[in-house]
Amino acid sequence: MLPARRDLFRLALAAPIVPLVAAGCGGRAVENSANTSMEGSAGRLLPSQAPLPKPFQRALPLPPVLKPVRTDADTDYYEITQKAATAQILDDLPTEIWGYEGTFPGPTIISRRGRRTVVQHTNELPVPVVVHLHGGRVAADQDGYPTDYLHPVSGRVADSHGKGLNGEQGSRDYVYDIDQPAATLWYHDHRMDFTGPQVYRGLAGFHLITDDVEQSLGLPSGERDIPLMIADRSFAADGSLAYPSVDGSLLGTPGVTADFMSGVLGDCVLVNGSPWPVLEVEAVRYRFRILNAANARRFRLRLDDGPSFVQIGSDQGLLSEPVTLERIDVAQGERFDVVVDFSEYSAGTRITMVNERGEGTTAQVMQFVVSGPGKDDSRMPSRLAELEVLSEADVVATREFTFRRGGAEAHGMSLWTVNGEAFDPERVLAQIKVGTVERWRVISQNNEHPFHVHLGAFQVLGSSGGTAGRSDVGWKDTVNLDNGGQADLLVRFEEHQGLAVLHCHNLEHEDMMMMANFEVV
Ligand code: C2O
Ligand code: CU
Repeated sequence: MLPARRDLFRLALAAPIVPLVAAGCGGRAVENSANTSMEGSAGRLLPSQAPLPKPFQRALPLPPVLKPVRTDADTDYYEITQKAATAQILDDLPTEIWGYEGTFPGPTIISRRGRRTVVQHTNELPVPVVVHLHGGRVAADQDGYPTDYLHPVSGRVADSHGKGLNGEQGSRDYVYDIDQPAATLWYHDHRMDFTGPQVYRGLAGFHLITDDVEQSLGLPSGERDIPLMIADRSFAADGSLAYPSVDGSLLGTPGVTADFMSGVLGDCVLVNGSPWPVLEVEAVRYRFRILNAANARRFRLRLDDGPSFVQIGSDQGLLSEPVTLERIDVAQGERFDVVVDFSEYSAGTRITMVNERGEGTTAQVMQFVVSGPGKDDSRMPSRLAELEVLSEADVVATREFTFRRGGAEAHGMSLWTVNGEAFDPERVLAQIKVGTVERWRVISQNNEHPFHVHLGAFQVLGSSGGTAGRSDVGWKDTVNLDNGGQADLLVRFEEHQGLAVLHCHNLEHEDMMMMANFEVV
């Protein structure tokens, strides 16, 4: 029997301090791969060589909402071209990005529950791509399995896993039969071995799902429903995005240089692609859909001298009731849907969203400036969605997944592994019966590892040795695990069968093999 949730929290308080150097299996010491910077995230800081803009000078950009190219009785059809483009992120120097429709973030797609969304992607980049709908409960062959490549219009590219000719070339449709509750999802690149650099170059966008439940609540909407994609980046002297790839063409050897094995941390915080932007708000309620789209950086967000966050939704949708939080820990891939009420603040007030895990330039995220009073028709209901609460009594199988460094190596470096094994597209770690509830214990060693699972969703039963806890409510698909932490999850794959992956959402860890297959049958 597992201890009850409150006992787990007590355990958390009593947990010993985890040593920075942990012993690997086979008695081999695993090198210390915890924080190599002084920042509160695993990874190493890559300092920018280009001058960074002054914070709080630019208006927050909003990604455009993509319009369907056509629509019929039950389906909305979209088209996205992935291509290189120039963005004005720094003051004087242009930056080449890779973007969906040439923008970073990509355009926002909004789907309604019960309708089908078809997105035709065309790849005008020089590398294969894979589009993953993060949080989407969609068919396995539409989900963006890492070797389901969409090769460039200009020709097919071999990969290092003998899967070079896998997939389509030029264009393909991703078909999403959307039948999950309203939620903030996102889509991003998921190419085998190269997810880190490809997302870093800009391949990420929001995909929102709406439904009748959400629309009946009267939450802030329209111009007061704002997605915030938070990510860190660094810039080379010429203004280009700096990333320590072994091979910057992304066509040869994958991975980053040894120094950055634990993760790449940038020194410039971007929100919706803009450095430390400002949003002018009226003194009313706003809804913010916060996404951490960084490769390795975790954020601990707080509104300095400002209101609390009222969390209304988690990764997979609305909570049953709002939760007031002074600060939120957002691991890579996680979403926090929050309402912020500015009604107590007078015109001219500036409220800074700070990152308590950052230091120097990364300690600040963005700023809100109150313009003056406004009319507020929104409501903050005390009940949100009806959520089914999974119970341990329903568990039909239990599994354990340990995320650590060691057990496998490549190019003389010890890799990030799941249960001691590097990702192998041919190996299936678990077979899960569709519709059943399993209890998964996820253990994090040698580093912090945000755990993410495709196709399904989970509820966090309890956790210890980490910051998971109060804000891990509702249905989730990603959970933050501190170094030495663990979480017990009740997991269910409700709709779809097939092969999919679970992995660490530190993208450098993921690329260096911290991923495993499972099959829903
Ligand atoms: Cu957001 Cu498998 O990833
Ligand atoms: Cu990890």
